[in-house]
Formats: sequence, structure tokens, C-alpha cells
Amino acid sequence: MNSARLAAGFIGAGNMGQALIAGLVNGGMAPERIGIAEPDSARATALQQRFRGLVALPAQALAAQAETLVLAVKPQQLPTLAPTLAAAVTGAKPLVVSVAAGISTEQLAGWLGPETRIVRAMPNTPALIGAGIAGLFAGKNAEPADRETAERLLGAVGATVWVDREEQMHAVTATSGSGPAYIFLMIEAMTEAATRLGLEPETARQLTLATAAGAARLAAESTESAAELRARVTSPGGTTERAIAVFGERGFADLVDAAMRAATERSRELGA
Ligand SMILES: NC(=O)c1ccc[n+]([C@@H]2O[C@H](COP(=O)([O-])OP(=O)(O)OC[C@H]3O[C@@H](n4cnc5c(N)ncnc54)[C@H](OP(=O)(O)O)[C@@H]3O)[C@@H](O)[C@H]2O)c1
Repeated sequence: MNSARLAAGFIGAGNMGQALIAGLVNGGMAPERIGIAEPDSARATALQQRFRGLVALPAQALAAQAETLVLAVKPQQLPTLAPTLAAAVTGAKPLVVSVAAGISTEQLAGWLGPETRIVRAMPNTPALIGAGIAGLFAGKNAEPADRETAERLLGAVGATVWVDREEQMHAVTATSGSGPAYIFLMIEAMTEAATRLGLEPETARQLTLATAAGAARLAAESTESAAELRARVTSPGGTTERAIAVFGERGFADLVDAAMRAATERSRELGA
């Protein structure tokens, strides 16, 4: 490893870029080993004040100096931006990790060069508090060490899972990428229903949030499946049974299935 090189360079230091930088620094990486290329100079300066020593460079210089180059700009910016990095990437050969939704490793290799080692990641917004989960896919030139590097990078802000086929990234997007919004929707609906049932809004909010967080943690830590845990709180003739029956009558599982199919379809369209 050439110690003069930056360990990680972020093209784009918006929400996701900043979450990853914070994760790396919290995990012990010196800000001096991290670079950003960010056109919003106020944002770049604020980040350099937050992380003393963070290096700001033009995108091409960053691509030439970073061992791992993280593409964290909006997907629609990549078709114009990525080709401008091709010469630096072909020369310096960084591992490229892209978090851009819907952009395939093949498209990236088309812009950056066919030999580029690429890992694609789909993180989610709980990464902002270190509680994310990212789906990862290794492009054809990525080596085992590249997988480890990408896993460490995304692992700094949450859990990671690998998929074997790039096509599966659409399902990852529909599950964990968009998933936080489904859970927020459930939280909104339960809070509003509880308020209509007569609780103060703040009480409704507290009860709902703690229930969502507690149920998720119980499901994660238990050896029993979610279905078994649900059956356990559903006593015959009880209140939960009555509520679950209404969910069933109104087609809750079908609704979730249709919503996630729609998200998958949209992810395919965006990548087309
Ligand atoms: N946020 C999420 O939950 C999430 C989840 C999964 C995947 N992602 C992916 O992560 C990527 C970034 O999302 P985000 O939410 O972090 O977006 P964002 O907050 O808009 O960040 C993108 C940053 O890149 C900068 N930028 C634009 N053009 C650039 C260029 N030519 N060179 C260098 N930097 C440039 C933008 O600056 P300006 O503001 O000045 O344009 C902005 O600061 C997207 O591809 C998205 O699909 C995000």
C-alpha cells in the first residue's frame, strides 16, 4: 500500500457521502486519509471543519490519489461525471465503490474503463445514525480484497449483505433501500390511529416508536421467526387476534407484495 495515497476518496459529499465519512472516522480512520470532491464549497468547508485534516480536491485529482474511490453523487450525475474520471481511474486503478441507485457495474465500466474493479452498494438512510444495512454486489474485476474493503467501508455505518447476481440489486432496493419509508408509513399510520383513539399525539408517538423499535429488536434477537413471535402475542379471542384479522381481510400481505413489486419495477426502469 502506498501510504501517500488517500485511503478513501468521496466524489460527492452529500447525505450518503457524509454518513460514510463519519462512520470511517468514528471507526478510527484519520481524516487526513480521506478526501472529498464536492462542488458545493460551503458544504466542503463545513465538512473540513467537522473533520480536521479532511482533504478537498478536484474530482480527477481525487480519483488519481484514492485507494478506494466512492461515487456518492446522484445517479443522474454519473453519465456526465464518470467519463471525466476515466483517465485517472485507468491510470491509478482505485477500487471504485458506487452507491448510486440503479447504475450497473457494466455502465460504470463503460464510463471508467473495462478493467475497473467495481463494487456496487445499496445503502439506506439509517446509515446516517450508523444503523444502516447495505446490499453489495461485486463487479467482474473485483478481487477478494476489494470485497473486504467495500465491506469495511459500508460496515462503518451498519450491516452488509452480498448478492450474487446484479439483477438482485433491484430487490435489495425495494427491500432495504426503500424499506425505511414503509416502516415510517406504518409508524405514521399507527400514531395517527392512536391519536384518533383518544391518546395525546406525543403519547401516541412514544408508544408507536418504542413498539416499532422493540419489536424489530426482539425479532432480530429471537431464535423464533416473525410469524412465531406474532402467533405468541395473538391469544385466541384477544385484541391482537381481532386486529390481525382486519389486516388479513384487507389484504395486508398482498398490499406489501404489490408495493415492493412496484419499487422493483421502478428500480429496473431507472437502471435501463
Ligand atoms: N440517501 C440515501 O438514503 C441513499 C440510499 C441509497 C443510495 N443512495 C445513493 O447515494 C447517492 C448520493 O445520494 P445522497 O442522498 O447522498 O445525495 P446528495 O445529498 O445530493 O449528495 C450528492 C452530492 O454530490 C455532489 N455533486 C454533484 N455533482 C458532483 C460532481 N460533479 N463532483 C463531485 N460532487 C458532485 C452534490 O453537490 P450539489 O448539491 O452541489 O449538486 C452533493 O453534495 C445517490 O446516487 C443515491 O442513489 C442514497
